[in-house]
Amino acid sequence: MDIADILRTAGVVPVIVIEREDQAVPLARALTSGGLPVLEVTFRTQAAAGAIAAIRREVPEAVVGAGTLLTAEQVRAAKKAGAAFGVAPGFDPAIVDEAKSHLLPFCPGVATASEVSQALSAGCTTVKFFPAEAAGGVKMIKNLLGAFRFAGVRFMPTGGVSAANLADYLSVPEVICCGGTWVVPKDALAAGDYAAIEKLASEAAAIVRRLRA
Ligand code: 3PG
Repeated sequence: MDIADILRTAGVVPVIVIEREDQAVPLARALTSGGLPVLEVTFRTQAAAGAIAAIRREVPEAVVGAGTLLTAEQVRAAKKAGAAFGVAPGFDPAIVDEAKSHLLPFCPGVATASEVSQALSAGCTTVKFFPAEAAGGVKMIKNLLGAFRFAGVRFMPTGGVSAANLADYLSVPEVICCGGTWVVPKDALAAGDYAAIEKLASEAAAIVRRLRA
């Protein structure tokens, strides 16, 4: 499946930082029940690959990808664990090539016109706009689109997105979905409060539905 097809169905992609593999399955169940089935498990912890494999095995309704892929080794580990897609915070042609060679649908990160240009040259039209709020938010996306819309670029803004500004981002037609950690608060995950996480997921999913109805 193409990365755009995967992310378009998502609306919101929860960005997950998981410390223990045993949190993976209940977390994925809470998010999918809340209406957010496309998940990004970041390679910021040792538990990432095991968490992806567990979600693949036990939560078939989830589409689990790998985030924060910074090295070729992490791309290989993500693929081996069964990740359906990969995401990176920045643009690195070597990582794009590695993902391509493993047929891993991939979304590199960009924050400037030069990076959008490089991503397009590498064949990536779907890009993560990161860190979205700090890099200029909706206004910056609209400015970039002035130059790149004709090239078919689509953005997944991530970084500072929340229930408060989600609708502003999703109102831009070229914003394919938004990513963020706000639906998986660190404290709720540590406390095993999956009901709270499911509630945040449902609130985000409701905003997506309202805008796409
Ligand atoms: C990411 O890497 O995608 C960001 O850390 C997510 O940013 P957020 O915590 O502001 O959602």
